[in-house]
Amino acid sequence: MMSMDRRNALKNIIGITTCAAGATLVPSFTAQAADAPVIMPGDKLAYAKLDPMEVAKIAYRDDVRSNGCMYQVFHAVVEALANSSSADADKFAAIPTALSVYGGGGVKGQGTICGNNNATGMLYGILSINGNAPASLSKISSYYEQEALPRDDDAFLTALGVTKADFDTNVKAKTEARSLLCHASLTRWSEAANLPISKKGMRCQLLSATIAYRVVELLNMEFDGEDLGTVPGFTEETSECLSCHTKGATMPTSVMAGMECDTCHGTK
Ligand code: HEC
Ligand code: HEC
Repeated sequence: MMSMDRRNALKNIIGITTCAAGATLVPSFTAQAADAPVIMPGDKLAYAKLDPMEVAKIAYRDDVRSNGCMYQVFHAVVEALANSSSADADKFAAIPTALSVYGGGGVKGQGTICGNNNATGMLYGILSINGNAPASLSKISSYYEQEALPRDDDAFLTALGVTKADFDTNVKAKTEARSLLCHASLTRWSEAANLPISKKGMRCQLLSATIAYRVVELLNMEFDGEDLGTVPGFTEETSECLSCHTKGATMPTSVMAGMECDTCHGTK
């Protein structure tokens, strides 16, 4: 079997290394050769405070932004944590972030869940903040749905090396997605910018840098024990729907959704 051969090969390499180069090189090799994957279901890796702009810059780096929206967000945060003071920095470094490339274009161009939201979920599933599960996932969703994005403020564009003229030519319009779907987000933008979706490059790449920034901003708030109650969440209308249509309710109809209801059930 392939995996067995690989494991044995690594053990052999370690054996040789121990004799030839001395014990100091062994720990990093043994970590790589361990039978267990770097993370198992239920395991959580410790978040350490990051600089949101630095993470946005990683997300927008040439070699990162060319790999799609999900990779941009997932990779940027994981790379930053691999270089952080987290006790789990080595584990973050060992996560094969390339697995997240599939999420681009709402899962390989299918226009389903936007990769930004998919990446956020993937991150929130593996992080712990001072020992607790992060609680701000739905606040990221609300930001994604309700804000006119991507960001085009001077501080943000300058940090990313994008000029306002670039933005005005290639992105043209900031739009509210009003949905967590790639399809709705893109088509609303395409309509507003009067550009075909084939020209989505800079718009989507800046959107992912924007979301990477927001994710870190909210994770930092949680890290510092700040009150998330002040951060905008569900719209008033959605909160109202959720007051009756809960996960536990059987009458009225039971609903489990953290999405804006009226995107599909209303007129927006
Ligand atoms: C005061 C409680 C309450 C609120 C608030 C509420 N609903 Fe309902 N909803 C009901 C009841 C009761 C029914 C009918 C019983 C059933 O279908 O289970 C219903 C039925 C529905 C149905 C089934 C189809 C239909 O029209 O009969 C949909 C869809 C629905 N609601 C969506 C929503 C959305 C979207 C919102 C927010 C804009 C919302 N509801 C707010 C109680 C509520
Ligand atoms: C992405 C689109 C979408 C979003 C967002 C959405 N729904 Fe739905 N919902 C649907 C579809 C599609 C159905 C199935 C409709 C059907 O079969 O008539 C459905 C079914 C329902 C039903 C049962 C309808 C029935 O006829 O019995 C209820 C109740 C409901 N949704 C409430 C909600 C609530 C509350 C929210 C927000 C928390 C929400 N939905 C968000 C698309 C959506």
